[in-house]
Amino acid sequence: MSAPGVPFDQRDGWIWYDGAFVPWADAKLHVLSHGLHYASTVFEGERAYGGEIFKSIEHAERLRHSAELLDFTIPYSMTEIAAAKKATLEKNNLTEAYVRPVAWRGSETMGVAAQHNKVHLAIAVWEWPSYFDPEQRLKGLRLDLAEYRRPDPATIPCTAKAAGLYMICTISKHRAERRGFADAMMLDYRGFVAECTGANIFFVKDGVIHTPVADCFLNGITRKTVIELARRHGIEVVERHIKPEELATFTECFVTGTAAEVTPVGAIADWHFTPSGITHQLMDAYTAEVQPKKQAA
Ligand SMILES: Cc1ncc(COP(=O)(O)O)c(C=O)c1O
Repeated sequence: MSAPGVPFDQRDGWIWYDGAFVPWADAKLHVLSHGLHYASTVFEGERAYGGEIFKSIEHAERLRHSAELLDFTIPYSMTEIAAAKKATLEKNNLTEAYVRPVAWRGSETMGVAAQHNKVHLAIAVWEWPSYFDPEQRLKGLRLDLAEYRRPDPATIPCTAKAAGLYMICTISKHRAERRGFADAMMLDYRGFVAECTGANIFFVKDGVIHTPVADCFLNGITRKTVIELARRHGIEVVERHIKPEELATFTECFVTGTAAEVTPVGAIADWHFTPSGITHQLMDAYTAEVQPKKQAA
């Protein structure tokens, strides 16, 4: 197992690459790949808990959907992708892991059009213990306000988890980190609250959860899970457009995502929140939900 901090191209293990396992360091592509130049690349971020990938089929479905939106078809079915992910985990002897499938157009032609370029799929997994340091996390993240906004869905395929859509996320996260924040919250093209650079956002007021309508950003698999869990616990969830000025009226805030899971937020710019009841309840509920379900005897 590679120590943390080892560059990602120099780790030990096996990467599933177009249907076969290759040694980690050999999982390469040519610099003249369409995916690199024109962002014809889609990916997933998933987590395995206790050897089982949480919502593996949903992630495989989203990967294929993202590719279709970029006008290419991944040459593996959802169940083949799910089986390949599971096999990659097993090949690397991992049970608590991050799972990263990525699909891209290859090098057959180089130009905007790439009608017949080969579509590649690779799957890498790496150790990511589901560690939980309650004290650190319960303090809550500090978020900056991003300069860039989530674009109008008329200008991008906003439901795709596509590499190109992450350009403004990386710029925004870098700026936030330089300014001493953990991440940035982005508004949307209309000026409503949207999401963070790699997670969805929720607020609490008077025992009710408020979250932006996912009409121009990724409707996260964790977001959907948390909404379902909240409703199962009898907590009302309102999906609506939220103006930034309203942030002063919310008492709790948290973000959700495969990597973030449910993480409390302590402040966004000058708005402050106190991670408490509902946030803690959903952190616990999510932790329980992701555990592999025991097969009925
Ligand atoms: C921009 C963005 N929004 C939201 C999410 C949350 O999505 P999920 O819960 O499916 O991981 C992610 C993470 O993938 C993301 O990158």
